[in-house]
Amino acid sequence: MSQLIIIGAGPGGYKTALHAAQHGLQVTIFEQEHVGGTCLNVGCIPTKTFVHSVSFEEAIERQPQVVEQLRSGIETLLTHPNITLVRGKASFVDAHTVRVSDETFTADNIIIATGSDSKLIPVPGIESPNVVDSTGLLNLDTLPKRLCIIGAGVIGMEFASVFNRFGAEVTVIEFLKECLPALDSDIAKRLRKQMEKEGITFNLQCGVKQIADGQVFFENKKGQTDSVAADIILVATGRKPRTEGLNLEALGITLQRNGAIPVDEHYEVKKIRNEENKKGDAPAPSNSLNFTFSNSPHLYAIGDVNGRQMLAHAAEMQGLHVVNRILGIEDHIRFDVMPAAIFTTPEAACVGPSEDQLKEQGTPYECHKSFYRANGKALAMNETEGMVKLCTEPGEGRILSAHIFGAHAADLVQEVTAYITLGATLRQLRETVHIHPTLSEVLIEVN
Ligand code: NAI
Repeated sequence: MSQLIIIGAGPGGYKTALHAAQHGLQVTIFEQEHVGGTCLNVGCIPTKTFVHSVSFEEAIERQPQVVEQLRSGIETLLTHPNITLVRGKASFVDAHTVRVSDETFTADNIIIATGSDSKLIPVPGIESPNVVDSTGLLNLDTLPKRLCIIGAGVIGMEFASVFNRFGAEVTVIEFLKECLPALDSDIAKRLRKQMEKEGITFNLQCGVKQIADGQVFFENKKGQTDSVAADIILVATGRKPRTEGLNLEALGITLQRNGAIPVDEHYEVKKIRNEENKKGDAPAPSNSLNFTFSNSPHLYAIGDVNGRQMLAHAAEMQGLHVVNRILGIEDHIRFDVMPAAIFTTPEAACVGPSEDQLKEQGTPYECHKSFYRANGKALAMNETEGMVKLCTEPGEGRILSAHIFGAHAADLVQEVTAYITLGATLRQLRETVHIHPTLSEVLIEVN
């Protein structure tokens, strides 16, 4: 019997396996496709290879090399003596047993780390051959002349930026009134305007109605029907947790309305529907009379499949926390301090609540800004488009959040993430010596 079974070898699963193995647990990890999951095979890594390639041709040539190199690295890591990698699709028999083909495996603890799939919108024509999701777009062998992107979220914006740079004519259709709804609206607007300057057309507050004959028909904000002609149409309208075939019903687990596995603050699976998923589509388990819930001891769900924070680094940290709990190790991971970045050109990144959220919550705050154009290194790099916004407690108190748009925004946000995690004030940030000349000086230059 293993001490730990992990279903899925994406960044959540394989990093968790390594952490557990290094701490002496016997791990069996199942993978139905390639190790590395969406992130390595069809997500973060291929898209970043695109971002850092000069042309589409270079991108499609480099992509498989980069992916293969990293994949074989992970396969080597998984040869750790405490880890057994089993190829195949796992499904539950009971809370301590999974089956792959005709073989069953048991463990004291099981972690579900099966990730997510693209979510398509239910409009006529969505099955047309020129409609792709992000995986399909990464697999094209010729650059589309006209690319229409449905959804201005993270995936839509990253691909809009890179395909525009490769020379495609890019049009984005977004339902909401601004791109990147999860981002501070000030930053999102500046990024969108910069991308418009670079030639990308945005149709905001527009709902897609139909796809037919290489055209996307949508209702614009005036209520009129409009259309965009495209050679390729990317649907980037979100992702949904992947649970199909796991046989979770056998464990009495009711999925949430968004398809996610319900978990508690330690990522332990909640077994019976609770208040949040009362409106769920799936029926309540027959043994649940009044919709109270209990946890499933020793059964955990990490990463995209629990729908909490669909980010590779969130999955990794959740897995680390679960293994620590299994081992009885106390940790202090701040899951409320979760940095994120959008790898457009220029980048955008954030950590902590947006200014809009702080206003909504009625949290007292003040806002401090600085601009790249006043920074020596940014000028020298010819990267003068950019802004930093730090939200702090009143009186230059503890830093609450950072929202940055501009070159290397992700690296700058990472620095602020450390300050927030440690409860530092703006004054402490200003009193920290920063190397001159660096972009990081924009942080201490906030007004
Ligand atoms: P998303 O949820 O970020 O954005 C989807 C967008 O589509 C939203 O703006 C939404 O309003 C819009 N939309 C939905 N239905 C629509 C319709 N019918 N017509 C027009 N617009 C519509 O989802 P996305 O971009 O697909 O990303 C999926 C997940 O992957 C996210 O959770 C994201 O955080 C994660 N991801 C993270 C990356 C990063 O951290 N750099 C990179 C890529 C993905």
